[in-house]
Amino acid sequence: MNIELDAPLPCVQETPAQPSAIAALRAATWPSHQQLEKRIDVKSRFGNLVAYRAHLENLYGFCAALEARVAPDTFGDALPDYPSRRKLVLLARDLASLGLGPDTIATLPCCGDMPAIDSIASAFGCVYVLEGATLGGRTLLPVVAARVGVTPDRGAAFLASYGDGVATMWSRFGAALDAWCRDPKRRAAAESTAVATFDALQRWLCRVPG
Ligand code: HEM
Repeated sequence: MNIELDAPLPCVQETPAQPSAIAALRAATWPSHQQLEKRIDVKSRFGNLVAYRAHLENLYGFCAALEARVAPDTFGDALPDYPSRRKLVLLARDLASLGLGPDTIATLPCCGDMPAIDSIASAFGCVYVLEGATLGGRTLLPVVAARVGVTPDRGAAFLASYGDGVATMWSRFGAALDAWCRDPKRRAAAESTAVATFDALQRWLCRVPG
């Protein structure tokens, strides 16, 4: 049989390269991020100590709800360093540095309007939101440090998160997410939960306290 080498073989079809799961999550949630960034209003929330502390209290209430749903052993081998990524402890440390006593911290209002977490893929989508916030923290930390006078050791542990390790921790998280979410159903679950988590966060941070 004479096969022309330039002609595509009938069994080889060109498939467009699939974006990584982390890129898909970024694309799916970027409009939510932009909207949140706009509504948060960096100038007023991070412009003085009272507003910054109130923001941290709200984040604490959100993170407490999130971490109650995504327990330390949720991911198993899919994200073995997840226990060291939990952020509630950083927010508690910041609030204590800014003068809140342990009893006050323990009774802060907790977000009751979170998406369902019923699989490792949905947990990845949910945790993606707070892991990604470590990237934004690199932009926000110098702003808050200059305006409010906090440092990573005193009041800005959440914003500083992994310090010099932010890029490494982010790429490790991305690799774990990509490995787990190759399957389209898992990827879809991660994406929809990431969007729902962003939306829940926006509702919570921008609510008018009753
Ligand atoms: C608590 C609120 C916020 C959350 C949960 C959040 C979440 C995220 C997420 C998930 C990403 C990663 C996107 C990706 O996949 O690459 C990200 C990146 C980023 N965020 Fe935010 N963000 C928040 C607030 C802000 C604010 C107020 C700013 C404004 C300065 C900001 C600036 C950025 C920047 C500049 C990046 C990209 C950083 C980089 O690629 O190095 N974020 N954020």
